[in-house]
Amino acid sequence: MQVRVFDNKDEASQAAFEIIKDSMANGAKVLGLATGSSPVALYDKMTASDLDFSNMTSVNLDEYVGLSGDNDQSYRYFMNQHLFNKKPFKESFVPNGLATDADNEPAHYDKVIEEHPIDVQLLGIGRNGHIGFNEPGSPLDGGTHKVALTQSTIDANARFFANENDVPRFAYSMGIGSIMKSKKIILLAFGENKADAIKATVEGPVTDHVPASVLQNHKDAIILVDKAAASKLS
Ligand code: F6R
Repeated sequence: MQVRVFDNKDEASQAAFEIIKDSMANGAKVLGLATGSSPVALYDKMTASDLDFSNMTSVNLDEYVGLSGDNDQSYRYFMNQHLFNKKPFKESFVPNGLATDADNEPAHYDKVIEEHPIDVQLLGIGRNGHIGFNEPGSPLDGGTHKVALTQSTIDANARFFANENDVPRFAYSMGIGSIMKSKKIILLAFGENKADAIKATVEGPVTDHVPASVLQNHKDAIILVDKAAASKLS
C-alpha cells in the first residue's frame, strides 16, 4: 500500500487524474467508480479534460434499493450529473435500485463485474473505515450484497428526503472481495474527520472492524490524502 500526502484536495485529485490517465494510456478499459464528496474534484477534472471515455466501461460501487436513476438521491443520478452526462462511457453499470428480481440483483451485478474486470477502482472512505457500503464487520472476501443501512445513515440521509419514510433502508454494494480483485485501487480521503479512519487503514491491523484496512493486502493500492486526513499518521 502506497500513501501520498498532498497540501490539499485539488492536488490529490490531480494525482488521481494522472493515474487514471496513465492507466488508460496503458490499456485500462474498466473504471470502478464511487459517489460521495471525495471524487467530485476528480470528476470535474475528468469532464474538463480531453480524455475520451467512449470506449471505456464503468462499474459503480453501490446504489440505494428502491430508488430509480431519475431520483436525485440515487447514485445513478449522481453519476449522470457529475460525470456521465458530460463524458459518456461506452457502458456504465450501477446496481439497479429498482431490480424486479431483487434477490438476484447481487448475483447479477457480480456477473457484470466478472465480465468487466476492473482495471482501476476508485474509493472514498467512511469515518468508520467503510468502503462502498461495506460497514465494519463485513466479510473481507464477499461479493455484491444487499445491505441494511444503519440507523445513523438513515438519520443522516433524512434531510435529503421529503419525509423520513422515503429514506432508503437498504442498498446494494459491491463486496470487498470484488473490490480487492481490481488491478489497481485509488482511495481518496480529505479532511480531518477522515484522519482516524486513515490511521487505522494504514497503520492498524488488517481487520473487518476497519474494512479499508484490507487494502494493506492489495499489491497496487494507492491512498491519496490531504494533510488534514493524514494528520494522525505517525
Ligand atoms: C460511495 C461510497 C461510500 C463513500 C464514503 C465516503 O459510493 O461507496 O463508501 O465513498 O462514504 O463518502 P464521502 O466521499 O462523501 O466522504
